[in-house]
Amino acid sequence: MKIIHISAECFPIAKVGGLADVVGALPKYQNNVTTISQVVMPFYNNKFTQENKFKSIYKGILKLGTDSIDFKILIPELNTLGYDLFLVDIPKLLFTDYVYSDNDTERFLAFQIAALDWILQNKKLPNIIHCHDHHTGLIPFMMSHANNYRELKNIPSVFTIHNAQYQGWFSHDKIDLLPSFPLSLIGLLDWNNCVNPLATAIKCAWLVTTVSPSYMEELKVKANGLESLITSESQKCIGILNGIDIKVWNPETDDLIQAKYNSSNCNNGKKASKDWLCEKFSLDPEKPLFVFIGRLVGEKGADLFYELFEHALKNLDISILLLGSGSKQIEEQLSKLTSKYPNSYNAYIGYDEALSHNMYAGGDFLLMPSRVEPCGLNQMYSLRYGTIPIVNKIGGLKDTVIDVSKNGFGFVHTENTVEGIFNSMKRASQFYNDTSKFKDTRKTIMQIDHSWDESAQQYVSLYKSLIQNL
Ligand code: ADP
Ligand code: GLC
Repeated sequence: MKIIHISAECFPIAKVGGLADVVGALPKYQNNVTTISQVVMPFYNNKFTQENKFKSIYKGILKLGTDSIDFKILIPELNTLGYDLFLVDIPKLLFTDYVYSDNDTERFLAFQIAALDWILQNKKLPNIIHCHDHHTGLIPFMMSHANNYRELKNIPSVFTIHNAQYQGWFSHDKIDLLPSFPLSLIGLLDWNNCVNPLATAIKCAWLVTTVSPSYMEELKVKANGLESLITSESQKCIGILNGIDIKVWNPETDDLIQAKYNSSNCNNGKKASKDWLCEKFSLDPEKPLFVFIGRLVGEKGADLFYELFEHALKNLDISILLLGSGSKQIEEQLSKLTSKYPNSYNAYIGYDEALSHNMYAGGDFLLMPSRVEPCGLNQMYSLRYGTIPIVNKIGGLKDTVIDVSKNGFGFVHTENTVEGIFNSMKRASQFYNDTSKFKDTRKTIMQIDHSWDESAQQYVSLYKSLIQNL
C-alpha cells in the first residue's frame, strides 16, 4: 500500500508546532506496518534546506488561474528520515523561512496543485492520499471534482484536522485560481459566504480524522463555526490519538540534554538538566521548577500567564521558566516579569528546539492550561522525560493525563482560570514536598507508552477499509 501524506510542515524540515512533529513521525512508523508512506511538502528557504543538498527529479508548470508557474520536485541527496520526502519548489511564490505569510491563499493553492500535477504523472499512483490541515484542504475536492484530476477520483482521500481554529478562509473572487470543475459543485467550496478549505475538506474527504477522540467530540459543539458540518458528517469522522516519536523524544538517547537517563536513574539525569537551566536562567535549583513551552496565544491560555505567574510567585515557593513566542503583547508582559522576580522567574522569548528538550528534562512540572488542545504533544513529551503535567481537562489533554487524586500522575483542573490553574500549581508544589511519592510518580510516567505504534496501525487499518470498499 502506498500512502502519500501532504502537509505544510514536517519535522525536521520545517516546524511551527505539533503538525510538523506528527507528519515527521507518523510515516516512519507506518513504514513499519507494511506500507510505503511518503511526505510531500513545500520547499522553504530555511536553515534545514540551506544546510542540506537536494536534487530535482521533476519539472512542471502549474496553472494558477491564468498564470503559468514553474515548479520543481526536489528530494534530499541524503535521506535518513525513514520515509521518502518530496519538496515542492515554486520559486515565484517564494516559500521563505517563515512558514506562514500574507499570500498564503496563492502559495498553498499553488502547492496543492503542483503536488497533484506531480502525483498524476507518477507511474504508480498512491493507494491513499492523506492531507493535513487547511493548507491541503482543497486536495480532496480537486481529486474528486477537478476536470484535470479525473484519474485521481478513485483514490481515497483522508483528511486530518490538527486544529479547527484555523480554516484557511478566502473570498469567492479567488475561486478562479482553482483548476476547472463543474460549476454546479461550487457550493462544496463555500461555508458562510467564504471559501473555507477546512470545511471543503470535511465535505469531500472520504474519511476525516482528528488527533484525539475527545477533540472529535468537542468539535461537534465547538469548532469555530463548523459544528453543524462536523455533526452532519460524523459517520465518516474519527478521533485517533497522536503518538510521539520515541526515536527523537527519548531521554536515554537524547544528545540535546545535559545527561541521558531512564526511569531507573531519572533523579540524577533530571537534576543535571535542572541545574543547567537554573544556572543559565538564574533560578534556585532547590525550588520546584514549573515550565511552559509553546505558542503564546489565547488557545494555550497564555493571556492568563501574567496574572497567574505573579499570583503564584507571590504565594508559592516555586520557580517558573517559560519558552515561547506569539502575541507581541503577551511576549512583552512576560519579559517584564523577569525583572520583578529575578531569582524565581525567567523567560526565553523565541523558538529553541534544544532548550525545549532541556526543559522537558529539567522541569519538575509542565504547565499546559490550554483552552483548545486537539491533542497536545508537550504533555506526552513531558511524561516521557519524567516531568509531571498540569493541564486543563480538554481535548487530547483529557485523553492523556489523569489526576493524582484519581490514582493518576498529573494535575487536571476543569476551571481554567487564574484561580483554577493556581490551585493545580499549589497542589503540585505540595506534591513536590512529598519526596517519595513525587519520585515514584516520575518513574511511573516515564514508562507510559505513547509511541506511535498503535495509532500508526489504526490509521493503516482505516486506509485498508477504504481500499477494500472500493
Ligand atoms: P501546537 O502544535 O498547538 O503548538 P503541540 O503540543 O502539538 O502544540 O506541539 C508543539 C510542539 O512545538 C512541541 O514539539 C513543542 O516542544 C514545540 N514548541 C512550541 N513552542 C516552542 C518553542 N518556543 N521552542 C521550541 N519548541 C517549541
Ligand atoms: C495542532 C494542535 C495540537 C496537536 C498538533 C498535532 O497544532 O493544536 O494540539 O497536538 O496539531 O496534531
